[in-house]
Amino acid sequence: MAHNRYSAVGLLYSFAFFLRLILVVNGDLSYSFPEETKQGFVIGNIAKDLGLNVGKLSARKARIDSEPKRKRYCDINLNTGDLIVAERIDREALCGEKTSCVLKFDLILEAPLELHRISLQIRDINDNPPVFTKDEIKIEINEFADKGSRFRVLEAHDIDIGQNSVQSYALQTNKYLVLNIQSKSDGGKFAELVLEMELDREEQKELRLLLTALDGGSPQRTGTATVHVTVLDANDNAPVFSQAVYETTLPENSPLDTIVVLVAATDADEGLNGEVTYELSRISESGRRAFALNHTSGEIKVIGPLDFEEESTYEMRVDAKDGYGLTSESRVIIQVSDVNDNSPEIYLNSLNNPIPENVSPGTEVGIINVQDRDSENSGQVRCFIQQGAPFKLVPSIKNYYSLVTTGQLDRELVSDYNITIKATDEGSPPLSSSKTVQLSVADINDNPPVFEGQSYSAYVSENNKPGSTLCSVTARDPDWRQNGTVIYSLLPGEVNGAPVSSYVSVNGDTGVIHAVRSFDYEQFRSFKVHVMARDNGSPPLSSNVTVSLFISDVNDNSPQILYPAAEGNSFMTELIPKAAHGGSLVSKVIAVDADSGQNAWLSYHIVKSTDPGLFTIGVHSGEIRTQRDISESDNMKQNLIVSVKDNGQPSLSATCSMYLLISDNLAEVPELKDISYDEKNSKLTSYLIIALVSVSTFFLTFIIIILGVRFCRRRKPRLLFDGAVAIPSAYLPPNYADVDPTGTLRSTYNYDAYLTTGSRTSDFKFVSSYNDNTLPADQTLRKSPSDFVDSFEDLEASVEVGIVENTPNRYHFLRVC
Ligand SMILES: *[C@@H]1O[C@H](CO)[C@@H](O)[C@H](O)[C@H]1NC(C)=O
Ligand SMILES: *[C@@H]1O[C@H](CO)[C@@H](O)[C@H](O)[C@H]1NC(C)=O
Ligand SMILES: *[C@@H]1O[C@H](CO)[C@@H](O)[C@H](O)[C@H]1NC(C)=O
Repeated sequence: MAHNRYSAVGLLYSFAFFLRLILVVNGDLSYSFPEETKQGFVIGNIAKDLGLNVGKLSARKARIDSEPKRKRYCDINLNTGDLIVAERIDREALCGEKTSCVLKFDLILEAPLELHRISLQIRDINDNPPVFTKDEIKIEINEFADKGSRFRVLEAHDIDIGQNSVQSYALQTNKYLVLNIQSKSDGGKFAELVLEMELDREEQKELRLLLTALDGGSPQRTGTATVHVTVLDANDNAPVFSQAVYETTLPENSPLDTIVVLVAATDADEGLNGEVTYELSRISESGRRAFALNHTSGEIKVIGPLDFEEESTYEMRVDAKDGYGLTSESRVIIQVSDVNDNSPEIYLNSLNNPIPENVSPGTEVGIINVQDRDSENSGQVRCFIQQGAPFKLVPSIKNYYSLVTTGQLDRELVSDYNITIKATDEGSPPLSSSKTVQLSVADINDNPPVFEGQSYSAYVSENNKPGSTLCSVTARDPDWRQNGTVIYSLLPGEVNGAPVSSYVSVNGDTGVIHAVRSFDYEQFRSFKVHVMARDNGSPPLSSNVTVSLFISDVNDNSPQILYPAAEGNSFMTELIPKAAHGGSLVSKVIAVDADSGQNAWLSYHIVKSTDPGLFTIGVHSGEIRTQRDISESDNMKQNLIVSVKDNGQPSLSATCSMYLLISDNLAEVPELKDISYDEKNSKLTSYLIIALVSVSTFFLTFIIIILGVRFCRRRKPRLLFDGAVAIPSAYLPPNYADVDPTGTLRSTYNYDAYLTTGSRTSDFKFVSSYNDNTLPADQTLRKSPSDFVDSFEDLEASVEVGIVENTPNRYHFLRVC
């Protein structure tokens, strides 16, 4: 026995388990609970029953979905997973006489979208008492009525159902009438009065009895009415309806005053006893608003709006009563048929807005629910997206659609979408509606700044001001806000061994490039810097560009005269043979200019000379030539001041002086001390020199002759040197010229002067071997013309020194001041 019971329990458990399994698999939940509970009443726990994690309910946006116009009745407590009552539930208002009252809701969970059906079975409680339609029930009984005659009285109704509806009646005790309870086919109970003792109108004209209806609920509720019995002469026949049930169908939205049905009852009696009036009973509140009965004709008409979606069936009773109160009843059932009068409704259940532009195609963006309150085909809805946006609707469960992307989004191309969703039902004619969903695309830092130019170049004249603007670079970034904000900076690098930032700087906001220092064309002519444009995203994106800077020359260097060397206040004297013909090359002025191009294109001019007609200078070659043959009358000492000009704008120049001695023999050279440019002095000095030289020559000749006569007797005289070459002081070996820092030769140095007997023309060997490039920068001459003027003024105190190198056919003559 015990064994049997255990196995039965086991079976029960496994059955329960099986049931639960079905629940989860179907995703359907069913709860039963009484009506009229308080708000917040816990119906059940959804999380437990669906096996869901309570913590995830909120994230999955768990919610009860119902049509927006309908009441919600229940809600989910997302913290506990409890399904709670949200609003008073009145079973009678919801379901009326229906024995089963079930509310159906959808439970929606997102990510992934899940739909569960929730059925709520509302249990009846005995909250309504039985009610008689009238407080006083009038019955007329003929005094000749036999004992045992039955009289039907109006029944009481209790809108509760089952046991809670009317179960019994009780009649105030009296000697004439007793109660007989009868059951009807529909389960209701009505009372009949049975005559126990014959009435005598003369003894008792009327009776007033209290009738009580009792329901079967706990606690029991009651309703009362007074039965007013009038004792009469005979009224034998009650009215009889032509049909027991009148059933009809009419479309919803039927116009007012449409005749729905005509009820008719006949009474076999004559006169007042045969006059039938009709009355509606057991009709719902909504029914009363929709239909009215003509008491005399029995016509039922439409008096209010009919909506299939609100109520599709009306059921009522019609009572027919004759003049003296005999009644009968009939049922009227009115079916309302559906008309396609509801357009589909589109609800946006969730929308991820804005969506980042980098979502992959196929990403779910939102959930859309479409509802149509019509039934059958009129409620079948097709849903689609109208225009060619990169989105589509993917049907999900039931009337749910997922809005998913079909392609890559790019905020820089399209930043907003207006997606129009259109829904059409399959009724005839079909109804449709549309809804526009606005969707924004959020920015992702997916574009690096792009420079407008492939590369940039800037030209700047040297000696620019530090801080001057060189050029500007621009980069564009189409991203949004900080993702598209461009910041410029220099990439580290070196120019001539120094960091690039010591040359130029870039304005981070504007991209304008400034010089940090003054540039010198003679130092470098161009350089490159790399500018980076970076956006402010995280992580930032960047690109770089090369900016080439070209420095252009400005005429900021004067020509430098290399020969005749002006440095150290020393200058050379050229010897010109007396027999030189016109056009002979006498000397050459050599100058360089550190600038380039026009700024270094030099021209030579004689600005002053002792004898203006004697010498000419090649404008570009700097070669000094005699213009005519030297004649005896020409002054022996010739001074030239040569100016060297470059071709810059404005041009710079330098001058030098050149000393020329017309002589075949250095021995003829007089004291050169007085070579000067002072025109007034020079004449006098010349005379003095001539006089001195004449006297000296005379004296020397005299002595030489005497000595010669004496020596010649013994041996032939010997020439010491036969050639010498003039060397610019700058090329003297250090042991030849000890030049002190001020550039003057110390007076303690003595040089012997030697004369050549060889070549007539000067051979400037060093000229051809001179090369600009070998000139060390620190040796460049930086003398202004005024420096030269000074050196001329010092001439009076100069000391002459000649250096002779023992080289055949060449001679040097150096004069040191
Ligand atoms: C979308 O609609 C809004 C308002 O109707 C309008 O302002 C906006 O310009 C539309 N956008 C597009 C991309 O059509
Ligand atoms: C910039 O891009 C990042 C991703 O790269 C994004 O998270 C951020 O929201 C964007 N900023 C703006 C202002 O759109
Ligand atoms: C500059 O950009 C080029 C390509 O545009 C890249 O190859 C190079 O690495 C960049 N240099 C730096 C320093 O970022």
